Order: sequence, then C-alpha cells, then structure tokens
Amino acid sequence: MAGIMSNFITIGHLSRKLEIPSSTIRYWESFFNEIWKPYRSKGGQRRYCKTDIDFVKRIATLSQDMPLREVKRILVQEVSSTTDNFDWNGKVVLVTGGTGSFGKAFIKKLLKEHKPAAIRIYSRDELKQFQIQQEINDTRLRYQIGDVRDYHRLLKATYGVDVIIHAAAMKQVPMCEYNPFEAVKTNIIGTKNLIDAALANNVPRVIGLSTDKAVNPANLYGATKLCAEKMLVQANVYSGPRPTRFSCVRYGNVMASRGSVIPLFIEQRQNGCITITDPRMSRFWLTLSEAVDFVMRATAFMHGGEIFVPRIPSMKIMDLAKAIAPECEPKIIGIRPGEKIHEILINETEARDTFSTENMFIIHSRLKKDNGRYRGLKLESVPEDFVYTSNTNDRWLSVDELKAILKRENIL
Ligand SMILES: NC(=O)c1ccc[n+]([C@@H]2O[C@H](COP(=O)([O-])OP(=O)(O)OC[C@H]3O[C@@H](n4cnc5c(N)ncnc54)[C@H](OP(=O)(O)O)[C@@H]3O)[C@@H](O)[C@H]2O)c1
Repeated sequence: MAGIMSNFITIGHLSRKLEIPSSTIRYWESFFNEIWKPYRSKGGQRRYCKTDIDFVKRIATLSQDMPLREVKRILVQEVSSTTDNFDWNGKVVLVTGGTGSFGKAFIKKLLKEHKPAAIRIYSRDELKQFQIQQEINDTRLRYQIGDVRDYHRLLKATYGVDVIIHAAAMKQVPMCEYNPFEAVKTNIIGTKNLIDAALANNVPRVIGLSTDKAVNPANLYGATKLCAEKMLVQANVYSGPRPTRFSCVRYGNVMASRGSVIPLFIEQRQNGCITITDPRMSRFWLTLSEAVDFVMRATAFMHGGEIFVPRIPSMKIMDLAKAIAPECEPKIIGIRPGEKIHEILINETEARDTFSTENMFIIHSRLKKDNGRYRGLKLESVPEDFVYTSNTNDRWLSVDELKAILKRENIL
C-alpha cells in the first residue's frame, strides 16, 4: 500500500509544484465537484494523483483565456465524452471464471478493442483453459488454474492487478439446491477470499457479477449471490484509506449462456418436444455482448459500493419457445424448487437508494456518504414504491424480435 499511496501528493506539494495557491485549488475543487473528486485520506486530507495534477494544470491553462464558467462547460463535455472510455490500456486484468460464457466473451472484447498489458484467466478446469488457449491465441493471456476457495492462490493471482472482474460462481439453481454448502463455499467464501486478496494487494477496481436471483432470493443460488453482493459493497468500508473499490453489476438471464434454457430448447427441439416448467413465466433477458458492454461501463463509472443494473427487456417463456421451436408442442413439467414465475432486479427496499439514468439504474450503498456523481450521467431518483420486475417491465421482446436477436447472435 505504501507503494501506491506514495504516488499521491498533498495539497501543499501540489500547490508548490504548479505554483498555484492552495486556496485556489480548494476553490476549484468545489467549483468542479461534479467532475472532479480527489482522493481523501482517512483523516479527510486531500491527496492528489497524476490524473488530478493533469486536471489542475488543464484548468490553470484554460482559465488564462476564459472565465471559469466556460472552463467548466468545456471540461464537463470532455469528461462526459470520455467516461465510457475507461483506459484499459496497459492494465493487468484478472477475470475469475474467465473460461465461462461471460469470461470468454469479455476477454475477447477486451483484447479486440483495448490494449491491456495482461489478462489473467482464473478457473479450476484445465481442459477449459486449454480450449481457450486454442481459441484465443494471444500472448497477453495468462492461464491460471485456481479455485476461488483457495485464498493463498488468489493472493498470488491478484498481485499487481489493476481490475478484477469476479465472474467465477456456481450458478445452476438445481445444482446449488442439491449441494448447498458447495455453493456457499464457492459463491460466498470464494468472494470473501477474493475481497481479502484484492485488499491485500491494493487492486483499485473490483467488479462482482450478480444476478436478478439475488433479489428476494427464492433459491440458494440467489441467496449466495445476495451474500456476495453484500460482502462486496461492505468491503469498501474495510478498504478505508486503501485505493481498493468494490462494486457489483446485477442483471437477468444471459441468452444462451452455459446451462441456460436456450441451449436446452435447441437440443430438445430435435426430439419434437420441449419442456417448460410454467407457461406464465417471464424473464429479463440480455445478450452476452450486452452483458460484457455493461460490465465494462460499470467498471468505468464505479466509485465503489454501487450495484449497477441495466435497463433490459423482458420476454415470456412461451414466446421464447415459439421463437426457437415453433413446430414443437411444449410439455409443461411444473415449477422447479427455487424457481420464480417472474424475476425481480430491484426491490422496494432498494428503491430509496436507486437512481435511474437513460440506460441503467444505480443502487447506492447506504454505507457510503460520498455517492452520487458520475461523469456525464444525469441521475434521477425513482419513486419510493418503485420495483423493477420482469412482468411489469415496460420493454418486451416479441417472438419476431427474439428470433431476430437469436439469429444475429448466431444462436439459431
Ligand atoms: N449466465 C447468466 O444468465 C447470468 C446472469 C446473471 C449473472 N450471472 C453471473 O455471471 C457470472 C458468470 O456466469 P457465466 O454464465 O459465465 O457462468 P459459467 O459459464 O458457468 O462460468 C463459470 C466460470 O466460473 C468458473 N468457476 C466455477 N467455480 C469456480 C471456482 N470454485 N473457482 C474458480 N473458478 C470457478 C468456471 O470454470 P471452472 O469450472 O473450470 O472452475 C467458469 O470459468 C456468474 O457469477 C453468474 O452468477 C450469470
């Protein structure tokens, strides 16, 4: 930690370095507070990193030729147009569960669109690691066999890392119901280990992937992910003066991810009969590439402690069946233990801490006081009785839209 904090300087040091009075820097900090928030030490003293120094220099240069009001207008525009472009270049990224559906898609996009220094793929099964090695041949990939249940292995894997995407999980509802303590060990204890390792190594950004099933959980999978969310949010408090920040992304079903209903329907339709547990069922849906984009955006926006929830459409399970297997007669087999008829992404209790933007909701942590500002995002509170459920959603995918998406994503 001493290494990282030694890159931060005090206001006196900054003032001498740039030859700008401390009082002016303080004034600028309050004037530009929508877009500039320097780090504060545990005792409340300002600490400035290289980005802050560059920002102050920029204000100083611009303000020579124009009023501060105008400088603000320009900088707000600059900042909002670059917020989505969090600089992944040169970063060392660890993806736990990097061989899974999400991990693979995330890694491919990161390599295609950015220049990370290295991506560490962390998971248990060497065959999946070997397959990814064959599929994505890139010297920046590091194949790390490891279990999130193993703290000491994670301690090594997180050393020198800039961003952690925590995707490793047990996620099959029936499997978690049948093997409850295994789900606890991977999803809860594994997340605790990851938090401890990230704190020990001062990893600046950690994003945990969560699910609608964590909201008002009806099954053990959801309950373990709820615990993981709570631990990640609370970890910001343990972080104290350290630079590590933790946030979560929570979304609904990802189309055609491993073990989901779409691959099942595609397989079953060959036999002329698909199975549906309950015909009333509705679900939130997003594509794998939408999930990856959203996680990348959340990584850029995070201050720590937020749960980011995308605005996504719903679909009716019967419509999905019609889109995939119109010729098949669905066989109703009855709801499974732990299954809900409809899913929920934000519940009433969370509503009072929820803010909406055009494309997402941000649930703030009650534990943090300095929430609230995101470059280029206009936040609006949601009504007190707001809930975001798959059956009351204002966006629905029709059978034709589902077909088109499945074709576009090369699923059908
Ligand atoms: N798919 C969805 O619809 C959906 C929706 C919302 C949220 N999510 C969340 O998104 C994340 C990724 O989901 P996904 O669809 O990509 O899952 P996935 O395809 O099943 O991949 C899971 C990954 O985690 C690894 N893993 C499992 N247990 C592990 C352990 N103990 N230690 C280390 N690695 C372990 C797996 O590799 P090994 O088995 O080789 O270890 C695999 O790489 C999960 O956290 C899930 O809860 C998924």
